[in-house]
Amino acid sequence: MRMVDLIIKKREKFELTEEEIKFIIDGYVKNEIPDYQMSSFLMAVLFNGMTENEQYLLTKTMLESGEQIDLSSIEGIKVDKHSTGGVGDKTSLVVAPLAAAYGIKMAKMSGRGLGHTGGTLDKLESIPGFTIEVDSEHFFKQVNEIGLAIIGQTADITPADKKLYALRDVTGTIESIPLIASSIMSKKLASGANHIVLDVKVGAGAFMKDVESATKLAEAMVKIGKLANRETVATLTDMSQPLGCAVGNSLEVIEAIETLKGKGPEDFTNLCIELTAEILLIAGIAKDIEDAKALAVKAMHDGSGLEKLRQMIIHQGGDGNVVDDYSIFKEASEIVELTYDGQNNLYVESINALEIGQAAMILGAGRLTKEDVIDHSVGIVINKKVGDTLNNGDLIATIYSNGKNTEECVNKVLDAYLLTNEIVKKEPIVIKTVRG
Ligand code: URA
Repeated sequence: MRMVDLIIKKREKFELTEEEIKFIIDGYVKNEIPDYQMSSFLMAVLFNGMTENEQYLLTKTMLESGEQIDLSSIEGIKVDKHSTGGVGDKTSLVVAPLAAAYGIKMAKMSGRGLGHTGGTLDKLESIPGFTIEVDSEHFFKQVNEIGLAIIGQTADITPADKKLYALRDVTGTIESIPLIASSIMSKKLASGANHIVLDVKVGAGAFMKDVESATKLAEAMVKIGKLANRETVATLTDMSQPLGCAVGNSLEVIEAIETLKGKGPEDFTNLCIELTAEILLIAGIAKDIEDAKALAVKAMHDGSGLEKLRQMIIHQGGDGNVVDDYSIFKEASEIVELTYDGQNNLYVESINALEIGQAAMILGAGRLTKEDVIDHSVGIVINKKVGDTLNNGDLIATIYSNGKNTEECVNKVLDAYLLTNEIVKKEPIVIKTVRG
């Protein structure tokens, strides 16, 4: 077999066989296929797409390129939840405890992200004492005992995806639905859960800018899950403005705790209820989606979700009192309140989520390179969301800074807001759900 023939085959829109896909992926991982041929192949896929079967085979081959996590020593129903990523996205910190309150096993291994704000691991590390470095024996024991753990990944899962993603990043081939779907699903399948709930973000602050392409991505991933015998559901959710109000690590953990107390921002609370409901439904705990949502709300109001989070914090070395006393978190030295100075009776038309993410990052809340050290205490709280009215003197946002780039951050936050004098309707956070 020769790589050039397979590039031509894809260029001419023919379907590749399992043997051919294996030849490409294994050859690339072993450095037998050079970057220039792989780049050409990826571009052919970007233009010509892949059939459902090709996408499944690509996912399977990438999955088999590395270790697969065996969760069989964890008893019960194991569900994994994944978000395609967005600004202010702290849903795992709420959804995993709510689901665990109903006996579902949430065994999450996360990687660290680059950009905007930190990933889930960085957010958790803002809790004094909390460790994400837990060995597999303790990880399994913890999930069996309390139903949840969120730890750093130690296993070398999907090395093929790591290598391909780095190449896609510099060859203009990220935005291909088959490539994104197989990249995400290979990692999810390698993580070992029986059921998968996906949160596909749509909007200016997300990979998928419109509902049509997000639907195609959701359908592709649900199909791959089905072919791999893992029940998968994908919810399309709005990322045209930051999720909730807090952007920045400890600020987001505090918002997650407030949400577990039933006092979170409306959009974020609704999203957490919907995603928890999908988990309860897929796990067979609830009879229909309405019943599932009622259970999610109950665990928010009776404190059982919060208790699960507290248990996880304590099991992973953190100070469990943070759920009641936020002064335990390291605090920023400077708090700047941005007030609106202008005409009365305006409305917030949009808030550029990427701009807010970058504003938080330059304060130190995220990293540009793997080596950057995160400042857990800095960030932004948005006090006005899309659809809110604005009058002279109203508080728009609050900046928590330790003196790094504060002024630049203030300007970026103000630039992110677009105002109008027309009434703006608040759209629901969940756009639609794609089931298998
Ligand atoms: N997230 C991933 O893990 N892979 C992609 O290709 C895009 C987003």
